[in-house]
Amino acid sequence: MADDLRVRLRERIAEELENLREQSQLRSLEILSGVNLCSNDYLGLAADPRLKHAVIEAVASARQMGATGSRLLSGNSREWQELESEFAEFAGTESALYFGSGYAANVGLLSAILQPGDVVFSDALNHASLIDGMRLSGAEKIIYPHGDMQFLEDALREKSRSTGAKVIVTESIFSMEGDLARMEDLLRLAKTQGAELIVDEAHALGACGPEGRGIIAGLKHEREILAIVYTCGKALASAGAFVCCSAKLKEFLVNRARTFLFSTALPPYFARQIHAALAIARKEDSRRKHLHEISIALRAELSAAGLNCGAGSTQIVPVILGANETAVNVAAQLQAAGFAVRAIRPPTVPAGTARIRVSLTSRITFADVHRLVGAIGAAVHSRDLSAAEAATVANA
Ligand SMILES: Cc1ncc(COP(=O)(O)O)c(C=O)c1O
Repeated sequence: MADDLRVRLRERIAEELENLREQSQLRSLEILSGVNLCSNDYLGLAADPRLKHAVIEAVASARQMGATGSRLLSGNSREWQELESEFAEFAGTESALYFGSGYAANVGLLSAILQPGDVVFSDALNHASLIDGMRLSGAEKIIYPHGDMQFLEDALREKSRSTGAKVIVTESIFSMEGDLARMEDLLRLAKTQGAELIVDEAHALGACGPEGRGIIAGLKHEREILAIVYTCGKALASAGAFVCCSAKLKEFLVNRARTFLFSTALPPYFARQIHAALAIARKEDSRRKHLHEISIALRAELSAAGLNCGAGSTQIVPVILGANETAVNVAAQLQAAGFAVRAIRPPTVPAGTARIRVSLTSRITFADVHRLVGAIGAAVHSRDLSAAEAATVANA
């Protein structure tokens, strides 16, 4: 009997893998080569010698290599505390708390502040880490269609008698679509409907706004927002994330965010990597300008080639192809042509909108953009793509 149960679980795992394979949804770990068009290294800092030297220096002068415990035990250090103060000042908020990953920050934040009886309003394209945090909290979830402010307003009004807290959760730049949240509308709705707002600036930090401070800081509304999450694994070429908020909320998270409480702190020298990356990123207006210009050029060339690149305006440019097989097929052809891209399929994106997600960095040149569009056009029109797949591209 006990053995039967073990076999059943193993069979279930094998079956699920087979299902994924049949639906062209099986993912595997690969080391990509070629022009990197699927990285979040928006300012090209991952290979920047200035960052490398700062890290070498930080390691050379480090008292210890490991944090040795969670922040509430032995893992706290002057380096992390100073960095949190520095980041809060940068973000324009009273306080900041660092988590070991953006995933941990979102899950920890949302699962700590929301509880059963509360209602959370979430954009349909929010990142999995936000979704998982809401799920864990036990709050009622209302998913509004992507960017649909009327739907959101109606849903907030419908819940006007609810006695629990109301919280709206959004990304500022959506990671799969590359478009912007309607932040002014969200701020207005939050204010008029008695709701709090939480914003994930993962893809905006470093890439846009004054000194790369993202969307919220540019609008000067940072103190009206309950919490803003900035991840360090993207434009800062590091890892982790800051939840920027009031001092009271930080104190609450230190006591209640389980992904903070029950996880070993990152080593103190790593705080100095983030400090150095932030200092470089703040000054890189010319890289931000280039990133913006190649994003405009890529969208213009894709549209001229009759391809659907969504309604965004940022450095994330989706090429929406429709069927899973089409996206996988086009990605394989682009990889063979020397472009490191990945096919993005459901459940990461809605069914029928499988795509190649081009994520530009300031290292990409206008010539790369031109070659890429040529290669995408050739892949889409190649004979390797069946007539049925080509039709899904036309309709995507
Ligand atoms: C919008 C958004 N939030 C959070 C995360 C998670 O951040 P991390 O990779 O640091 O865990 C990501 C990662 O892709 C993201 O795109």
